[in-house]
Amino acid sequence: MKIGVIGLGTVGFGVVEILTQQKERLEKAIQEEVTVKYGCALDEVTLPDGVIFTQDFQDVLNDEEVDVVVELIGGTTIAKKIIIEALKKGKHVVTANKALIAHHAQEIFQVAEDNHAKIYYEAAVGGGIPVVVPAKEDLIANEIEKIEGILNGTTNFILSLMETDNLDFQEALTIADGLGYVEADASLDLDGIDAAHKIYILAMNAFEIFFDFDKIQCTGIRQVTKKDIDYAKKLGYRIKLIAQAKKIDQGYGIDVSPTLVGIKDIVGNVNQAYNVVELTCNYLENVIFYGKGAGRYVTASAVVSDIMKTHQPTMWKHQYQYVENIYPITYSQYYIRCDHPLDIDYEMYFSQDHDHIYITNPLELSQLQQQLSGETYSLLKVRG
Ligand SMILES: NC(=O)c1ccc[n+]([C@@H]2O[C@H](COP(=O)([O-])OP(=O)(O)OC[C@H]3O[C@@H](n4cnc5c(N)ncnc54)[C@H](OP(=O)(O)O)[C@@H]3O)[C@@H](O)[C@H]2O)c1
Repeated sequence: MKIGVIGLGTVGFGVVEILTQQKERLEKAIQEEVTVKYGCALDEVTLPDGVIFTQDFQDVLNDEEVDVVVELIGGTTIAKKIIIEALKKGKHVVTANKALIAHHAQEIFQVAEDNHAKIYYEAAVGGGIPVVVPAKEDLIANEIEKIEGILNGTTNFILSLMETDNLDFQEALTIADGLGYVEADASLDLDGIDAAHKIYILAMNAFEIFFDFDKIQCTGIRQVTKKDIDYAKKLGYRIKLIAQAKKIDQGYGIDVSPTLVGIKDIVGNVNQAYNVVELTCNYLENVIFYGKGAGRYVTASAVVSDIMKTHQPTMWKHQYQYVENIYPITYSQYYIRCDHPLDIDYEMYFSQDHDHIYITNPLELSQLQQQLSGETYSLLKVRG
């Protein structure tokens, strides 16, 4: 197996290191030589002996000896061109590029199929946590009914810090940024777009559907207040940015929103920059995948595993149906904070200072909004 790694930044350089350090063990596992032939980046990088450095990705794509192209530059323009060209040449592709898959999956997978090439993207969801391939291969006996997860480590870190260090959103964001946790385009993290890319990928594979990414209703954490974190805690909850997807009567419910999660739930105890994915299946019932969602070796671990998988037959093809009917999940319990008492049905209530806090019974959001018309209030979903 001859590999070309395009992009030698945080993840790409880690991939070259692992492939070099673990060469013997990996070769034993697949009974074939494993060679990194190229490393490609814009700025010169010192690579292990024998690995050719190039600034031109065409050198990798045009080399007939290269079987596997690893795209780790990110973005959706040049990365897409690289992946499509590699697949058209019959090379297998491994990528960690969640944005690209979430926006262009259908087109990319069609090219892969037309050219009998494989594409793997485990690292795009949950960094190093094996969840995409296990959900398709190890859970093949099951129908997946529901997916819920904390899929963005940065927002989870900020929300955790707001709780533990008694900080407001801006203070916690400044610390996260200082630690290098926030993407160059902060909106990807803070507005839930990165989590939406990942729930797209999980929902696509679980439900065997393609759909328009923009249909995912996505609310980030900018409006989450320290006050609501404290009130939620009093009621036995933590606020987490939850991405979820499930089948609903009209089609599929898929959204990302700050949500109250029970402090006793496993998901409610996933703190700092950790990720978690909980799948509800018809036979296995609930299964949870937990671990680090980002970082050099964490992410490179999943990429290297994918590279090895290109050597095996795959149990799944991306022959999915395009669907239109994607909606936010609106039947839920809700947390409401208002500065005066409200006339609503509720499961929990308390008042503090000038605030009145409710956890409603489960109901449709439109029904609740109708009951609260003319009122000013803060509202968050509560995980059932
Ligand atoms: N970082 C993580 O923990 C993590 C986790 C999960 C998924 N991912 C995904 O993994 C991918 C890579 O992320 P990263 O954090 O490793 O990015 P990064 O550190 O910014 O590295 C990007 C690399 O791509 C190179 N590059 C950019 N444009 C290029 C071009 N036209 N031709 C050749 N090389 C080019 C850069 O070269 P120069 O440095 O010379 O400009 C750099 O080596 C992204 O899709 C990201 O979403 C990352």
